[in-house]
Amino acid sequence: LTLAATLLLGTALAGCGASKTPAPAPAPSQGGGTSTPAPQVKEYIVGTDAAYAPFESENDKKEIVGFDIELLTAVAEKGGFKVKFVNTPWEGIFTSLKNGDRDILISAITITEERKKEMDFSEPYFEAKQLIAVPKDSKIAKFEDLKGKKVGVQTGTTGDDVVSKLLGKDSKDIKRFESTPLALKEMVNGGVEAVVADNGVVINYVKNNSDKGFKTVEDASFEKEFYGIAVKKGNKEVLDKINAGLKKVKEDGTYQKIYDKYFGK
Ligand code: ARG
Repeated sequence: LTLAATLLLGTALAGCGASKTPAPAPAPSQGGGTSTPAPQVKEYIVGTDAAYAPFESENDKKEIVGFDIELLTAVAEKGGFKVKFVNTPWEGIFTSLKNGDRDILISAITITEERKKEMDFSEPYFEAKQLIAVPKDSKIAKFEDLKGKKVGVQTGTTGDDVVSKLLGKDSKDIKRFESTPLALKEMVNGGVEAVVADNGVVINYVKNNSDKGFKTVEDASFEKEFYGIAVKKGNKEVLDKINAGLKKVKEDGTYQKIYDKYFGK
C-alpha cells in the first residue's frame, strides 16, 4: 500500500466505525537504497464568484466562505487533493477555466447542455430553481407578470436565460448586472421591480435583509436545475478525483452535515 492508500483506508475504516485506531505507519524502506518518494498531493486553483451567499461570499476578513467552499474542501480531503480558492468574477469565470488560470470552478454553477459543450461537470451536488424577489407591496404574483416590468438579473446566469426567454433577449426591460447583489441593490433603489436568481440566494437575501421589505414569488414553470463542479473539457484526472471525493462525502454524512449547517434540517 502507498502511504496515501493506507491513510485513505484508515479514514474509511474509521468512518465505518470498524476501527478507531490510526492506520499503521508504512514499513521503513529496506536496505537504505532508493526509497519511494511520498506521493505528491496536488493543489488546484479553484475559481468562485464570491458574491453569492450562502454558496460563496467574502466575510469581513476577506476570506471566501460558504456552502460550496466547505463542500469542495471536504471533497478535496476525501479525493486526495488540495484546493486554493480564488475570487473570480462571474463574467470571466468560464474563460479562466478554458485558458488554464483556474483548474476547477465551484460557483453554484447550473449544469446546462450549452455549458457541457465548453467544460466537464462533476456529478450534480445541489438542486436549485429560479425564484423571483419583489418588494413586499408588489402585485407581481407569477413569472408572466414580469412582462412589461423592469427586471434585474446577473449577466449570463440561468436567471438571465429564463428572463430573456420571457421578455426577449434584447428587451430594454432586462437590466443585467455583473453580480446578483448589485441587481438586488438596484431593486432597493427602485431601478428594477423584480430580480430573478437562484432560490437559495434569493431566500438568503430576503431573510437577512428584512429591513428592505422584499418577498419571494415562486413559479411552477421554472425547471429544476442542478449545480456541478466544473473542470476544463477533458480534464479527467481532476474530474475523477472530484467525483470520488464527492461520492465519499455523500456516503459518510459529511455532505449532510454541511447542508444542514447552511440550509437547516
Ligand atoms: N446557478 C446560476 C447559473 O449557473 C447562477 C450562478 C451564479 N453564481 C455565482 N457565484 N454568482 O447560471
